[in-house]
Amino acid sequence: MALMTASTTVSAGPILDDIAKSGELRVCFDAGYMPFEMKSKNGSYIGFDIDIGKIMARQMGVKYVPVNTAWDGIIPTLLTGKCHLINAGMTINAKRNMRVNFADPYIVVGQSILLNPELEGKVTSYRDLNDSKYTIATKLGTTGEQAIKRMISKAKLNVFETQADAVLEVANGKADAFIYDMPFNAIYASQNAGKVVHLEKPFTFEPLGWAIAQGDMDMLNFLNNFLRQIKGDGSYDRIYDKWFKN
Ligand code: ARG
Repeated sequence: MALMTASTTVSAGPILDDIAKSGELRVCFDAGYMPFEMKSKNGSYIGFDIDIGKIMARQMGVKYVPVNTAWDGIIPTLLTGKCHLINAGMTINAKRNMRVNFADPYIVVGQSILLNPELEGKVTSYRDLNDSKYTIATKLGTTGEQAIKRMISKAKLNVFETQADAVLEVANGKADAFIYDMPFNAIYASQNAGKVVHLEKPFTFEPLGWAIAQGDMDMLNFLNNFLRQIKGDGSYDRIYDKWFKN
């Protein structure tokens, strides 16, 4: 008789199971990436991703636990189980998708350029930067770094551990350009008028998605249904307006 016994009790996939048992949703991100995740003056984490993560935890009925992680090690941190998901403005791309699963995109961005004001008018697109006389700064391990290597390979590339250090290179004249996700650049340019010029038209196509360990379709199903719900019930738009419209 093929009846179910106690040892074949049907349970959720491993990630949802651990969230339910531990009573917490541990979320990896890398603070400093405006407006998705920032550290506020009082030390708490704020931003678009943080607000979405908090709603997710609330709907699950568990505690939201922020796990601030250096970008370069964020996938290994996920894969060793220190967080249940990455919610950090991560671009969905083939290389990463071979190591993690992504939920459907929650927003689409692309790389844009912050220029040294002296180059205004001389450089009007990423193509003009493809010259050995130019130095470009970006953040280690990002799609900005990948785009520069792929599309602007003649320029000199300087990578930095944090986006704050990288963008400072342009503001203080040590680099000709900084290349990074457009929303970050738009905010930085508005806060640093006169120090940088924003070429705001994105030159890459980058859907951002939440990443989880591979092989857990229950968690993937949860995330995609959660995304559809917040997009439909107005909470996504409310949070979007809070962080993207000023
Ligand atoms: N979208 C870019 C990437 O996936 C940059 C993301 C940086 N995110 C962060 N939390 N610092 O590489």
